[in-house]
Amino acid sequence: MRLQGRVAIVTGGAKGIGWGITQLFAKAGSHIVLIGRSEDAIRQAERHLRDDGIKALACVGDVSKSSDVRQMVAAALQQFGQIDILVNNAGVNPNRGRSVLDTEEADWDAIMAVNLRGMLLCTKAVLPIMKKQRRGHIINMCSIGGKVIRDGKNSAYRTSKFGVRGFTWSLAKDVRDDNISVSAILPGTTQSAMNPNETGDSSSWLSPNDIGEAALFLATREPNVIIPEMIVAPRSSIGGPTCPYC
Ligand SMILES: NC(=O)c1ccc[n+]([C@@H]2O[C@H](COP(=O)([O-])OP(=O)(O)OC[C@H]3O[C@@H](n4cnc5c(N)ncnc54)[C@H](OP(=O)(O)O)[C@@H]3O)[C@@H](O)[C@H]2O)c1
Repeated sequence: MRLQGRVAIVTGGAKGIGWGITQLFAKAGSHIVLIGRSEDAIRQAERHLRDDGIKALACVGDVSKSSDVRQMVAAALQQFGQIDILVNNAGVNPNRGRSVLDTEEADWDAIMAVNLRGMLLCTKAVLPIMKKQRRGHIINMCSIGGKVIRDGKNSAYRTSKFGVRGFTWSLAKDVRDDNISVSAILPGTTQSAMNPNETGDSSSWLSPNDIGEAALFLATREPNVIIPEMIVAPRSSIGGPTCPYC
């Protein structure tokens, strides 16, 4: 098994894309640490994993709060003694569809708090451990919307995802001598609760499992191989408004 005995933190790992990643990492032999705000979802995911014989630790918490993140990492270290993989997956988009002019301050702050500050807090909490181990993988969930903007919608969310790429590249340079690999995944439209009103045929979108496969690929590379960004898009997007080739 490709992640046998490894310890992976998946933020937002109990739902949607995060759950797709969690399941594939668990199947590959990883012990799993989850954090999310919804206690029901977190406990259900933990039960599911444990029923399958997976060592799992689920923490109810908010990645934008440093105390919650510190508690989660301390509990993970206490239970498993190491942290090999961090998937910064938790994300929100409360102002779906809004242009810059229509963006409310509260939505802007909520998006930046989770999508960027949460990423910073989780990364800062695990980095000393990974540096000491002299190994680690950090995978940041971005979006195709963090690379190409073709209309005036989702402006705060897309701004945060451009920020995820900047953060990923900065971090990669910070840890270049520490044997820690840093990557971003840029998914196209994926079936999850984040897309309740998206138009089009959802059966042609990506599944959380597709993004899980991408994360598993990144987490199983040797650290001398650098993959800064991985775009994962549904075939149906070619030629459309979110075409990754355009
Ligand atoms: N779906 C897409 O089309 C798509 C495309 C590109 C990129 N993405 C990115 O993929 C990631 C996962 O999104 P998804 O599509 O799976 O959406 P989702 O189903 O809404 O899942 C979001 C996850 O993040 C967690 N989360 C949100 N705020 C949190 C916080 N403050 N602290 C801890 N956990 C938090 C949620 O758990 P709780 O609600 O329990 O906290 C949930 O597990 C996000 O970064 C998103 O931007 C999604």
